[in-house]
Amino acid sequence: MDSIIVTGGGPLNGQIPIAGAKNACLALMPATLLSEEPLTLTNAPRLSDIRTMTELLTSLGAEVAGLQGGQVLALSSHALTNHTAEYDIVRKMRASILVLGPMLARDGQAVVSLPGGCAIGARPVDLHLRALEAMGAELDLREGYVHARAPRGLRGAVVDFPLVSVGATENALMAATLARGTSVLRNAAREPEIVDLARCLRAMGAQIEGEGSSEITIEGVARLHGATHPVVTDRIELGTYMLAPAICGGEVECLGGRIELVGAFCEKLDAAGISVEETPAGLKVTRRNGRVRAVDVVTEPFPGFPTDLQAQMMALLATTEGTSTLEERIFENRFMHAPELARMGAQIEVQGGTARVHGVERLKGAPVMATDLRASVSLILAGLAAEGETLVRRVYHLDRGYERVEEKLGGVGARIERIHGD
Ligand code: EPU
Repeated sequence: MDSIIVTGGGPLNGQIPIAGAKNACLALMPATLLSEEPLTLTNAPRLSDIRTMTELLTSLGAEVAGLQGGQVLALSSHALTNHTAEYDIVRKMRASILVLGPMLARDGQAVVSLPGGCAIGARPVDLHLRALEAMGAELDLREGYVHARAPRGLRGAVVDFPLVSVGATENALMAATLARGTSVLRNAAREPEIVDLARCLRAMGAQIEGEGSSEITIEGVARLHGATHPVVTDRIELGTYMLAPAICGGEVECLGGRIELVGAFCEKLDAAGISVEETPAGLKVTRRNGRVRAVDVVTEPFPGFPTDLQAQMMALLATTEGTSTLEERIFENRFMHAPELARMGAQIEVQGGTARVHGVERLKGAPVMATDLRASVSLILAGLAAEGETLVRRVYHLDRGYERVEEKLGGVGARIERIHGD
């Protein structure tokens, strides 16, 4: 297992290119299952999760080729030769559930392993299943698998989500494109990844209105055709690298960044005393002298502060002046980075879904363990500002969501090195 060593030091200066969004790409790739014609995705990130989705789609009979070093994905699913998403792949990555809606919509049958729990929360898929049931799917849960059938095809339906779910909105949206009649998704997720998926589906011939609002209307069509679509910028990678100069000092321009992707996050940076400026190429973040101010953060569905930036924000708040409160409202167990940050000298009290972070002058390097994707990168950010050396173990989590992290941070002056292990 690889580890990463970070040596804390001075300010960071320069530019970091931001990749296409992992979570958008993981929803866009299964859209290939909706059409017999090819789908080309440009600006794809090069990540292990994308390779896992490739493996899953290939197991169903789709063809996926990575061109230009993986930045372009050429997908095609002329005919599906298998309708079962096996546990061995699904257990590696929960986003695998996103093949359910498209497979069912296209061929009237799908068998998908239930993903099971996850380090950050129970993460059930009941909302995905309820939405498909409302569209006429017959579901049967047996031996850890969802067996779904729609012998006469799916039909349009009004789906009223009791809580906002990104994945359930994506599954329902894809399924509805080929359902007979009109579907309305109420209390739909509004994340930029949903908007990106809707745009891609529209380019494939789908009739969709309202993406980006909480009500999406889809008029089903008989078939979708091929398309080429650029993956939206990764707002979480963007926010993560915006925090690097905020924590270490200096000035970093994140290329491809746009304020509307990270509005609520930028408001908190501003309140903390970090300047964010729009440039023709992206977003420039500057921290000059002095300590950053404490701020209170509550995670919420988009356009609120994203849960996927909560761990990284905690790394910043660990060294601010005063006490900050972080409230995690999306996942029930997403503070596993807190005890690891505490090993570096951070003072954090966690009670249920709330963490109180008492800022200290400086963190100290220590060996720490990455517990999930966003937790791993929060430890790297903390290490960049800490005194001495931080060894982050189990960085395979990191490789799921951050491409070339050593190169990107090294390029702005960070001292970071990967140690290859067994
Ligand atoms: N939920 C249910 N039932 C469902 C679906 C969700 O109770 O059927 C609950 C979840 O347990 C959670 C809440 O609803 O408490 C929101 O979950 P959501 O469905 O929105 O999350 P997701 O689609 O499983 C995506 C991202 C996550 C990100 C969340 C929230 C992908 C592949 N994953 O997950 O990304 O945290 O939305 O924004 O898009 C990450 O990239 O590190 C990551 C975890």
